[in-house]
Amino acid sequence: MHSIMPIFGTRPEAIKMAPIVSALQESAHFDCIVTVTGQHREMLDQVNELFGIVPDHDLNILRQGQTLSAIMTRTIDGLETLFAGSRPDAVVVQGDTTTSTAAAIAAFYHGIPVVHVEAGLRSGDLLSPFPEEANRKITSQIARLHLAPTSTSRENLLREGVSPEDIVVTGNTVIDALLATVDKQLPFTDPRLEELATSGRRILLVTTHRRENQGDAMRNMGRALARIADAEPELTIVLPAHKNPVVREAVLPALDGKPNVLVTEPLAYGEFTRLLSVAHLVLTDSGGVQEEAPSLGKPVLVMRENTERPEAVDAGTVLLIGTDEERIVSEVSRLIHDQGHFAAMANAVNPYGDGKAAARTVAAIEELVGVGSRIGEFDGA
Ligand code: UD1
Ligand code: UDP
Repeated sequence: MHSIMPIFGTRPEAIKMAPIVSALQESAHFDCIVTVTGQHREMLDQVNELFGIVPDHDLNILRQGQTLSAIMTRTIDGLETLFAGSRPDAVVVQGDTTTSTAAAIAAFYHGIPVVHVEAGLRSGDLLSPFPEEANRKITSQIARLHLAPTSTSRENLLREGVSPEDIVVTGNTVIDALLATVDKQLPFTDPRLEELATSGRRILLVTTHRRENQGDAMRNMGRALARIADAEPELTIVLPAHKNPVVREAVLPALDGKPNVLVTEPLAYGEFTRLLSVAHLVLTDSGGVQEEAPSLGKPVLVMRENTERPEAVDAGTVLLIGTDEERIVSEVSRLIHDQGHFAAMANAVNPYGDGKAAARTVAAIEELVGVGSRIGEFDGA
């Protein structure tokens, strides 16, 4: 038996790691030891609960208003102690959060091979998204096995000198998670959402949290959403608010008292994917939502200047619109009123995965530790 330790700490890592945890647990070769940092708390626990993941170790690092350095040092310190007591044969980290990079560094310092899931995404701008672009580049320098979701991400890694034999194109495990969840059409705990989902009203689903958007950009978003709510009384805007108080303080005041704006707590993943499946369009700065919505044929307006996920932009279902108030209002209005434009963007495409990314991931790890061999790669964008 080889001990494999997935390490994760935030909501999106948990969602994308869940299919891998499940596949590792099913493999006869592996003892899967789940470690969470607790960089997120409620939003992490919500995902683990849905997928039935019970962590073996929890570093419980979250502090309100935590700094990047605190996330980094508390994770490395916690893992230092953990590895001294039990040393896994490999660790698995996902994506570009500070948990992910700190865990990769801690493992690297201990000579433990690092498997990087969702490797090779690049925006090309070190400051956007911040600090994620730097995080993912740092992890690429020290990972032993790079699991690229698409051939575009593989190309990025090759350009940076990663050996081709150390890269496997798996597809993104978020599509595994989405496909396993969305069809269940789980009930909403908030009765307002249950009523809305069955009312036939058009829904604009909004999420925001990016660090580089905090402040002026988020205040722009709040004002833009208030204007859209006034101009489009037939539309309901649903905003599941991130737990970060900085986000809430910037976006929510402008929306106070708007009858067609519904602000909720973070939704459990099953509820969020159901809402996505009934939404008319999506306005977001999220990475994961950019990957999921195209799969469900939902047009996505991305409130960022650039993206490390160009595949759905190329497919025409994602449009980068930045964070200017006028532009947000005009692009939403255009999608609502220009049927041709809406139809052109509302194509269901799957450039990010086919639901088999976790199986490819586990096969690649089996090859890494010498008990199997990799399987056919994802043949997407
Ligand atoms: C983090 C990741 C980001 C990822 C995002 C997903 C880093 C640097 N950032 O950003 O890459 O896209 O998660 O959502 O790794 N909070 C809670 N409870 C929670 C979660 C957050 O109270 O369950 C609050 C805390 O006040 C915390 C703040 O939110 O200080 C920010 O959380 P943090 O993890 O530092 O940054 P995110 O913006 O969530
Ligand atoms: N999500 C969720 N509940 C919500 C909002 C988002 O489960 O209320 C899911 C969403 O489906 C996606 C992930 O959270 O899989 C995205 O997380 P987030 O936007 O926080 O982080 P990012 O992907 O930008 O790193």
